Amino acid sequence: MDQEDIIGPWSEDKLQLLEKYLHPYTAIMRGRKWCRNGYHYIDAFAGTGKPRARDEERYIDGSPRVALTIQHPFHSYTFIEKTPWRVQRLRELVDEFPDRDIRIREGDCNHIITTEITPRIRYERFNRGLIFLDPFGMDAEWSTIEQIAETRALEIFMNFPVMALNRTVLPNDPNALTEAQIERMNRFWGSTEWRDEIYEEIPTLFGPVEMKIHRTTGQRLGRLFKKRLKTVFPHVTDPLVMTNSRNAPLYCLIFAGHKQKAVNIVRDIFQRYERLGE
Ligand SMILES: C[S@@+](CC[C@H](N)C(=O)[O-])C[C@H]1O[C@@H](n2cnc3c(N)ncnc32)[C@H](O)[C@@H]1O
Repeated sequence: MDQEDIIGPWSEDKLQLLEKYLHPYTAIMRGRKWCRNGYHYIDAFAGTGKPRARDEERYIDGSPRVALTIQHPFHSYTFIEKTPWRVQRLRELVDEFPDRDIRIREGDCNHIITTEITPRIRYERFNRGLIFLDPFGMDAEWSTIEQIAETRALEIFMNFPVMALNRTVLPNDPNALTEAQIERMNRFWGSTEWRDEIYEEIPTLFGPVEMKIHRTTGQRLGRLFKKRLKTVFPHVTDPLVMTNSRNAPLYCLIFAGHKQKAVNIVRDIFQRYERLGE
């Protein structure tokens, strides 16, 4: 059987939220005459372009297709994916959308973004872009985010992987942290500060014990990462926590950019979504 990606309803919500921002982004950018070298979409974790809905024979437009089918297209689309079989699927998009400028890149997005995208899309080059960072886990490195912010031309719409962090690198007891986990977390966070933010001393009968802060949940982790993003981007939204059917936080969506107006637009989109869920 052909390989395919299967996604849950929370991923469909994520795609709809992305789409809701792509519309105003492209509508605003097409009116910017100074932006003579175009505005570009970069999907750093592109997937196949056509995942299947869980428990259903229904295919969904993955993020590359969402971006390709918006009313006012981007000047170019770069789809980065590290798995060869997914890259094969992405290549089909080139024939399917012959009037779009599509660039498929196979490999690690951290390397491709910092060697091919951030040197090209920069404030002083009269171009702009949006990077969608949608990893399964902790694959977007802090140094990549730093270089994206430094361009002053690229914004990020990001899936911050709460469950992956909690499950794979953050044990309840910090003494159980392995060297590999610490190193991975440092690379992801871009500093060692996470340790003091995420663990606290709790008094017990046997003296103080260091533990993961109770409620190191989506909202708290997302807010801590927002604080990190604010060190490199001037404007960042609050995190929007996405949960599964058992209300467990899976990930947060966070947007970071260079204009307050963009953050206001995304904030409104997130708030409308939260109100619907009440
Ligand atoms: C959550 S999926 C992306 C789904 C896609 N954005 C969508 O909405 O249809 C994450 C993808 O990132 C890919 N990936 C993981 N690590 C990567 C890396 N370092 N560079 C590029 N792609 C990577 C995985 O193979 C997977 O296809």
